[in-house]
This record gives sequence, structure tokens and C-alpha cells, in this order.
Amino acid sequence: MKQPVRVAVTGAAGQIGYALLFRIASGAMLGDDQPVILQLLDITPAMDALQGVKMELDDCAFPLLQDVICTDDPNVAFKDTDYALLVGARPRGPGMERKDLLEANAAIFSVQGKALNDNASKDVKVLVVGNPANTNSLIAQRNAPDLKPRNFTAMTRLDHNRAMSQVAQKLDKAITEVTHMTIWGNHSSTQYPDLYNAKVSGATAIDNVEQDWFENDFIPTVQQRGAAIIKARGASSAASAANAAIGHMRDWALGSNDNDWVSMAVYSDGSYGVEKGLIFSFPCVCKNGDWEIVQGLELNDFSKDKLKATEKELAEERDAVSHLLP
Ligand code: NAD
Ligand code: LMR
Repeated sequence: MKQPVRVAVTGAAGQIGYALLFRIASGAMLGDDQPVILQLLDITPAMDALQGVKMELDDCAFPLLQDVICTDDPNVAFKDTDYALLVGARPRGPGMERKDLLEANAAIFSVQGKALNDNASKDVKVLVVGNPANTNSLIAQRNAPDLKPRNFTAMTRLDHNRAMSQVAQKLDKAITEVTHMTIWGNHSSTQYPDLYNAKVSGATAIDNVEQDWFENDFIPTVQQRGAAIIKARGASSAASAANAAIGHMRDWALGSNDNDWVSMAVYSDGSYGVEKGLIFSFPCVCKNGDWEIVQGLELNDFSKDKLKATEKELAEERDAVSHLLP
């Protein structure tokens, strides 16, 4: 039997938390031979609700779940943690852009970055889900000088999955036929879902769809999917977000598919001309518990313009929170 690993989840009493914790405890994230200890953080007024979630976790009698710690103290939640899923933050409502949350949520991530720095395992893998996810991840990373910058990531896997699903439905193909999808940039309405490098049944995706559909239907649909769900459900996506978080962490920890890549917002090393240090979504492959940006993809002028637009937005978001970036 493997030694248990510690998985911290913030915002654990919220709606994504409710869709996420049971899957982590079941082994869906780290494998069905990996025992886990859940370290759950929420704010003080949510402690009763969090205890209710713990009761339900207990009542599942998951063989892999060794302990559940509930706390309102980030230093307790992140103690020795190997994985940290930073979900806790306010979601947007109708008519808002995700960056409108910057002011409300940014402070959370500077506090939690410091708490990670002081308490977590030096190899902790951090996924930021709370919006605006890329910039919140940057804030956490910059407040954790003793941890590796490359261990702070943000979630664009939901956008990646959305883009795959749109293509599969458009071409009436099985989802497994859609591969090599890339979301470039920010988890926002400037993100660029790229069909020039994606494949359908092994052929270049863009060659199988009309240019007009790509530019005027597919791209805005993927960019605006979060808003469409908020409008329809009256609440932001939760089960699909939790599912994407599981996929992001599982691939990072256990390796991505050899014949494909995944989209992850990671620390930019300047690849594809993207400003170094931004948390930018790239095509990544994961191996041995680490990620690497896929190199050498072709970007035409259309794609380059889209990358520039989303890079510019990320630089603006970063500048707006410069007071939180030591
Ligand atoms: P929710 O309101 O249901 O839950 C958020 C939880 O976070 C609440 O329990 C709240 O008490 C808690 N919280 C607030 N401040 C906290 C703090 N300082 N420390 C710990 N916990 C805190 O929201 P949700 O639907 O679960 O969404 C959570 C976040 O995830 C939102 O910001 C949402 O926009 C974002 N989100 C991101 C993606 C993505 O693809 N990156 C997808 C869906 C949602
Ligand atoms: C999503 O993409 O569903 C989330 O980021 C929630 C939102 O605000 O759109």
C-alpha cells in the first residue's frame, strides 16, 4: 500500500467542492491505489456546511480516504500538503467578466500563497480554479518565493474539454476522435481555442470545418460558455469544472496521454513569444509528475493576433494587482 498523500481543497463547502471531493476520495484524481488525506479549507461562516460535507465523505466509506481535516485556517489546510486545489473564491454573476472579480478575490490568493510557502511540501502541485484563475495563480506564486514557480498552474482544462465537445458535435464524431486541442492564454473571453493544430480522426481540424463557423461560432461559443451556463443555471459551472480539475491534476501527477497533449495555464518561459512569467495556457505534455510546453507548433497571423490579445489582457490583469506581487 502506498503512503497517503495530502490534498488541500479550498472553498470546499462550495458547489465545485461538492462535485470535486467525492471524486478525489474515490481515487479518480490520483489513482485507485493512492490513499489520500483531505485538508479542507473554507471561511468561518461555512464551517457548519463543511462539517456536513465531511459527514457525507465519512458515509461513503471510501477505502482510500484516510482522514478529513476541516479548517478555516490556511496554515492548517496547507500543512505538508502535496496537492492544493485553490477553488475558494467568489464566482461571477450574470453580465460580469471574470476579471471583474479581481478586486474581490485577489487578496485571498496572496494570503494563500504565503500560507503555501510556509506550510506546504516543497514539491506541492498547485491548481488555481477560482477566478480570474490565471492572475490569481500568479498572485499565489509570487507570494510563495520558496516554492517552484512552475508548480503554480491555473485551469483551462474546462475550456479545452468544451472546445473538444463543440468540434465532436459539429462533425458528429466521437469525442475520442478529437485530439491535440489547445486553449491559448487566459481563462477569459480572450482565450484562443486553436483548430489549426487540433486534429479530428487524425486530420487537421480546421480543414474539416468552415472558416466562418470557426471564427464566428466556435471561438465565441467556447469563450462565452461559462457565461452561457451562468445564464441557464443561475449559477456558474460546477460539475464540469470539478471534472476538469480532476483531469488537470491526474494528468500532471500520473502523466498525460502519449499521443496527445492537454491545455494547462502554466508559468511562461517565453515560449511562442509569450511574456515570461505570465500564467498563460499552452499545450502541455505531462510526464514523471512534471509538465512541459509542446514546442514547434505553427501559428499563422490569425493565431498570432489572438495570442497577442490574450497576452495583453493577462499583462493588464497583472498590472492591476501589482500591489499584491512582491
Ligand atoms: P461557490 O460560491 O459555490 O463556493 C466558493 C466557496 O469558497 C464558498 O464555500 C466560500 O465560502 C469559499 N471561500 C470564499 N472565500 C474563501 C477563502 N478566503 N478561503 C477559503 N474559502 C473561501 O463557488 P463555486 O461555484 O464553487 O466557484 C468557485 C470559484 O471557481 C469561482 O471563482 C468560480 O468563478 C471559479 N470557477 C472557475 C472555473 C475555471 O474553469 N477556472 C470554472 C468554474 C468556476
Ligand atoms: C466557467 O468557465 O464556467 C467559470 O470560469 C465560471 C465563469 O465565470 O464563467
